[in-house]
Amino acid sequence: MEIASTVNELREKILAWKNQGRKIGFVPTMGYLHEGHLSLVRESKKRSGATVVSIFVNPKQFGPTEDYKVYPRDLERDRALLEKEGVDLIFYPPVEVMYPEGYRTYVEVEDLQDKLCGKSRPGHFRGVCTVVLKLFNLVQPDEAYFGWKDAQQVIILRKMVEDLNLPVKIVPLPLVRDHDGLALSSRNTYLSPEERQAALVLKKSLDLAENLIQTGEKNARQIREKMIELISAEPLARIDYVEIVDLQNLEPLEKIADEALIALAVFIGRTRLIDNLRITTGGIEK
Ligand code: PAF
Repeated sequence: MEIASTVNELREKILAWKNQGRKIGFVPTMGYLHEGHLSLVRESKKRSGATVVSIFVNPKQFGPTEDYKVYPRDLERDRALLEKEGVDLIFYPPVEVMYPEGYRTYVEVEDLQDKLCGKSRPGHFRGVCTVVLKLFNLVQPDEAYFGWKDAQQVIILRKMVEDLNLPVKIVPLPLVRDHDGLALSSRNTYLSPEERQAALVLKKSLDLAENLIQTGEKNARQIREKMIELISAEPLARIDYVEIVDLQNLEPLEKIADEALIALAVFIGRTRLIDNLRITTGGIEK
């Protein structure tokens, strides 16, 4: 496994693989890897001739009062995990390689970027789309793998790929949970033991929604209210949003139909956690 930190080092490798006709699988990450990331890597290994993982804590997707400076970073740990998975190349650029002095170009997916997480994190998806488009241009992957944990991110990036005719397939993969149901996130490391316990309320609220749906409840307002009631009973939790929306355009739904996204963001202490459940014609996934 090699590590490239410059555009030239990366391009040289990619060109060689392309010339050999190898299909390139790409897993963009901000590092501090967990089983969720590794599940994406494993899928890429199965489906591609070469797997590239980027590790870049992207300053453009953090708001001025958010956790950019303290976001967990541990390259040695990440490198060991990726080596074990048989990754071919890590792209680990410094900020000045991605955003040199005078950088001015941004990508926005209008409307979708302002909903759900976009409401409380203005500019977040502009930062995500900008860095992901740059990474796609550099890595030129055939497929890129993302977790459904960030459902809005998947929906927005799919739209960006469609609108800009990018020659890459977005492959979303199931959210991965810890043994007790908490969705894996690098930010879980911020939680104290007491907060870690309180954080289970996110998954519990989705379990409640699932039970209600399975017993025939279709009214989105009813489901949402019951979820809010359950979360509000947890003293360490403060709701950012609980929404039931269309899985394509993220517009609020009145009735649960064949497809829906139930998404929530909740502060546990100072840590903002997200989770979701998706209803598709294939069933409920969370
Ligand atoms: O999901 C993430 O970790 C980030 O948003 C991504 C896609 C790596 C872009 O910085």
